[in-house]
Order: sequence, then C-alpha cells, then structure tokens
Amino acid sequence: MAMKEDCCAMQLIDSNSVFNAAGFDRFAKKVKLAELGLSYAVVAIMGPQHSATSLQQSFTAKFKGERFKRLMIMGNFSLLAAAARRLEGKVALITGGASGIGESTARLFSKHGARVVIADVQDDLAESVCRDLSSSSTSFVHCDVTKEEDVENAVKTATRKYGKLDIMFNNAGIGGIAKPNILDNDKAEFEQVIRVNLVGAFLGIKHAARVMIPAGHGSIINTASVCSTIGGGSSHAYTSSKHGIVGLVRNTAVELGQHGIRVNCVSPYIVATPLAKNFFKLDDDGVHGAYSNLKGGVLKAEDIAEAALYLGSDESKYVSGHNLLVDGGFTIVNPRFCMFEQS
Ligand SMILES: NC(=O)c1ccc[n+]([C@@H]2O[C@H](COP(=O)([O-])OP(=O)(O)OC[C@H]3O[C@@H](n4cnc5c(N)ncnc54)[C@H](O)[C@@H]3O)[C@@H](O)[C@H]2O)c1
Repeated sequence: MAMKEDCCAMQLIDSNSVFNAAGFDRFAKKVKLAELGLSYAVVAIMGPQHSATSLQQSFTAKFKGERFKRLMIMGNFSLLAAAARRLEGKVALITGGASGIGESTARLFSKHGARVVIADVQDDLAESVCRDLSSSSTSFVHCDVTKEEDVENAVKTATRKYGKLDIMFNNAGIGGIAKPNILDNDKAEFEQVIRVNLVGAFLGIKHAARVMIPAGHGSIINTASVCSTIGGGSSHAYTSSKHGIVGLVRNTAVELGQHGIRVNCVSPYIVATPLAKNFFKLDDDGVHGAYSNLKGGVLKAEDIAEAALYLGSDESKYVSGHNLLVDGGFTIVNPRFCMFEQS
C-alpha cells in the first residue's frame, strides 16, 4: 500500500499518561494505522512530565525502522490547564483504590495533579490502574485495612515516596452477605463488615492524623453510604458500619480540627460497582434501573470521585464534619408518602 505522506493520526497523551510501546500498539490498532498506509503516525500532545527529547528517543528506540517512520511532536502542554488542576502538588492515599469508586477517584485525583498511592488487597487490579496512570506519580501498596500494621505502612509508603500526605481517602469497603433475617446473621460475618468498613476507616484516620498533625493540615475523606442516614437499605452490619463512620467522622473532625485537619464523608446512593452488584445480585442495568428520585441521569463512580475531589481540594477549605450525600435526593423523600407524582 502506498504511503500517505500528507496524512497522520494523532494520539493525545495527557499529563498523567505514559508513552509506552503497549499503549502505542493499542492506539495503532485502534486507528488502523498500518491498513491506512500512514507513513507517520504520532502527534503527541504532552503533559509537563514528557520532554520532547525523551519522547523522540523513546519512539526511535521502539518503532523506528519498523512500521512507522516519524514521530511528530506538537506542543508541550497539559490537556488540563495547570490552573484547573485542583490537587496540584498534593499527595493522596486511597484505600480500596483498585476498583469502583476508589479507582475512579485515583484516576480523577491523578488527572488533577495529585500524586496518588493506592492501598488495596487486590494487587493485580491496583497495579493495572497504576500502569494506566503515570508511574512517576502513582503507586500501589498492598494493604488490608483491617490490619493496623498495613495501614501504618501505607501511610509511611506515601510519605516516604512523596514526602507528605495531604489527603487520606478511607474508601475500602465490603458489602458482606445479604441475609434479610437477623436470625440467620452470624456474629463473625457482622464483625467482618465492621472490621473492614468501620475499623478500617478508624485506622486510616489514626495513621493519617499521625503525619497530618505535625503538618498542621490535611483532608480526611471517608466513604459512608446512604445507609449512614436511613435504615433498611442494606444488612444490619453494613448499615451499622456506615452509621458508625458518620459518628467517627464527627468525633475526629472535632479533635483534629484543632490541628487544621478536616474530616468528612461522602455518602453515595447505589453505584454499579462489584460491591453493589454482588450484594444486590444485579447487573449494570439492574442497578441503573433501581429507584431514583432524580430522573434523567445514572449515578456513576465518577460522580462520587467528583465529590471526593471537592472534599480533598482547597475549594472545601472550611468544610469539616460533613456527610456529603450524593444520592439525587433519595434519602429525603419517602416515595410511599409523597404528594408529588413518583415513578
Ligand atoms: N457501590 C455502591 O453502591 C456504594 C454505595 C454506597 C457506598 N459505597 C461504598 O463505597 C466504597 C467503595 O466501594 P465500591 O462500591 O467502589 O466497591 P468495589 O468493590 O468496586 O471497591 C471496593 C474496594 O475495596 C477493596 N477492599 C475490600 N476489602 C479491603 C480490605 N480489607 N483492605 C483493603 N481494601 C479492601 C476491594 O479490593 C475493592 O478494590 C465502600 O466503602 C462502599 O461501602 C458503595
């Protein structure tokens, strides 16, 4: 096939992506570079960590003489202007960052300039999230939030790697087993949910406070749930754990406010993550079809990440002890006793 010298395809590389062979191959396949007979292929729009020279060297080492002849480099700017990066210079530790809400938050925080440490028990998944983001500003530490030494080590990893900790997101959680009859509920199952969801958050707050108190600032965010304010939405263990988080947030916000540290929680309504889908035995459509007070949109993990972004950023500098419900008004209406038409 004749080469089309005047044509090129474009790959955008944002501030947190890494230019690597695998990524380029995926891109090349997607836009069918070879089939289109393009002689040169990449126009890279770079984030601040990509220098033109290093990109050129990387390209030459990997592709020159193979399929593509030339790399064109356009510009050296971030897709998200520095002014719009709301966590520039901040360091965040996210528990449960391998999946669902935590993963979305890791991606959004990273996009907003934060250096992110993901702490999770799902090593492979967490490492693949890290690989997708920049290796210079994202890392993974294995951490079971029920183990104090793991949580302490996760905080130490963040401070050792990046010098400080500005945001602690205690997000790891489990749904436990859905048993609608208390007589079937085992003590061990109840305790396990409390251990992960509540004790895990306690340990996260404690060890984040250890480094935030001397720094005189910090934002600690916890994932609670709509089940933190209503009864009947989930199991006894889950509802208890999430009510417990709100109490813990309020108490620690009072103590740690004296040191300039804010403590808040974000409370999602149902989001189609592995946790919710397994607990309610629903697929994505089933979750999306659940009752919603607010029509016209579907709650996504990204929406919770946006709430966490607000609580982690300086835009919320005077917000503490707050339970930010992201539920489209679900918890303020009883659809069975309501003068307005409901569907
Ligand atoms: N999905 C929803 O509908 C919903 C609604 C309200 C609140 N929440 C809360 O959101 C948080 C995140 O859950 P998700 O929905 O994203 O589910 P998810 O299953 O996608 O993610 C939970 C993450 O926590 C990790 N995790 C579980 N136990 C852990 C432990 N002991 N130590 C470290 N990490 C552990 C998992 O490996 C996973 O990566 C949870 O606290 C959950 O209770 C979820």
